[in-house]
Amino acid sequence: MRICCFMVVLFMDHSPLPDRAAFPLLAANPELVWLDNAATTQKPRVVLDAERRFYEESNANVHRGGHRLGYAATEAYEAARQTVARFINANAQEVVFTRGATEAINLVAYSWGGSELKAGDEILLSTLEHHANIVPWQLVAQRTGAVIRPIPLQEDGQIDMTAFADLLGPRTRLVAISQMSNALGVCPPLEQMIAAARAVGACVLVDGAQGIAHQGVDVAALGADFYVFSGHKVFGPTGIGVLWGRAELLAQMPPWQGGGEMIERVSFDGTTFAPAPRRFEAGTPAFAQTVALAAALDWLAGQDRLAIAQHETALYQQLADGITYLDGVRIVGTAPGKGPIASLVFGRAHPYDVAQFLDERDIAVRVGNHCAGPLMQSLGLSQGTLRVSLALYNTTADIDALLAALEDTLELLQ
Ligand SMILES: Cc1ncc(COP(=O)(O)O)c(C=O)c1O
Repeated sequence: MRICCFMVVLFMDHSPLPDRAAFPLLAANPELVWLDNAATTQKPRVVLDAERRFYEESNANVHRGGHRLGYAATEAYEAARQTVARFINANAQEVVFTRGATEAINLVAYSWGGSELKAGDEILLSTLEHHANIVPWQLVAQRTGAVIRPIPLQEDGQIDMTAFADLLGPRTRLVAISQMSNALGVCPPLEQMIAAARAVGACVLVDGAQGIAHQGVDVAALGADFYVFSGHKVFGPTGIGVLWGRAELLAQMPPWQGGGEMIERVSFDGTTFAPAPRRFEAGTPAFAQTVALAAALDWLAGQDRLAIAQHETALYQQLADGITYLDGVRIVGTAPGKGPIASLVFGRAHPYDVAQFLDERDIAVRVGNHCAGPLMQSLGLSQGTLRVSLALYNTTADIDALLAALEDTLELLQ
C-alpha cells in the first residue's frame, strides 16, 4: 500500500509553495515533519530579518520619543497598521494591536460586552469554538447576567443551521463564530450566519485565528462587526495579534485597560481617552513584533495564494485518501469545504501513544482536546484526537512520512 500511495503522490506532486529553505528552522532540521501548524507556524527568514533589523536599526519606543529614532519607530509601527489594514481590506483606524486572538476576544468581551450586555441578553457560540472564544464570554456573562447559548453541530462537524435559526431571536446580542475550527478544520457558513445574525440585530465576532493563514479575509465583504487573529499562526511572531472592529462600534466602546498612550489628557480631576485604536492600546506595545507581523503579511500577500490553497487541499486529500488504507483510523469532522486540518481517532490506540511514536520519527502533531473541550464532549471523544494541521511549506513527502509512520505505529499499538 505504501508503494502504491507513493506513486500516486509522485504523479500529483506540484512544487511546494514556497520552499522549506525560506524557513530557517525547517532548513536547519531537514528531517522534521512539522504538522502542528494550527498551534503555531514556522517563520520565514524575511520575518526574522525584519524583527532583527528593527532592533538593530530603529529600536525606540513608539508615540513618545522626541528624537529621530522614536519618529522612525513610530512610523514603522503605524505603517504596520496600514499593512494589516491592506491585508484584511480595512481602514487602519479600525485595526487594534493586541497580544493575540485571545486578548482581542477578551478586549471585545470586556469592553463591548461589559457595556452593551444586560441580564437576559443572549450570546450564541458554536460548539466548535476554541476556549479563547468561549471563556471570555462566560466571564462577561457572569458579570452582566447575559446567557450563553451553544449552537449544536451536525454529525459531520458543520454548524446545525436549523438549530442556529431556532436559537436566533430578539434577545440575541452577539454571535461568536470561528472562520475555521482549529480542531476539525470545519469552516462554518459565515456568509449565511452573519446575514441571519444581522437580520435580528445581533453583532458578530469572527475568530480568524485559523482561517487567516489559509483563506485570508476581506472584512469589508465579510459583514461581521469584529474579526480577530494572532500573528504567530500566520507566519508572524508571537506576542502580537489583531482586533479589527467596525469604526462606529470601536468609537463607542470604553477602554478596557488603562495606562500610557490610551489617553487624551490625565488629571486627578478626571481623564479623557484617545480615540480608537489607541484607546485600546495601553502601555508600550509589542512594536518590534508588530513590524515583523507586517513583514509576514506582506510576504504572504506576495505569494500565489490560489496555488497555496490548491497545494494545501491536495495535501489534505492525500492524507484523507491514505487514511482509508489504515485499519481503525478515522477522520472526525468531514463536512465539505474543510480547511487543511485533520483530527484523527484510532480504534484501540490512544492518541497520546501514537503521537509519541510519531515524535520519535520527527513528526510533530498535536494531541488532546485542542482547547475545544465542549466540541470534544459533544463528539464523545474523551481521549481527544490526534491533530494533523498543514501549512504551505508542507510537502507530499511529509504526508508520505506520516502515513508510513502511522501504519507502523498502529501495527504495534492496535
Ligand atoms: C480558533 C482559535 N481561536 C483562538 C485561538 C487563540 O489564539 P492565541 O493563543 O494565539 O491567542 C486559537 C489558538 O489555537 C485558535 O485556534
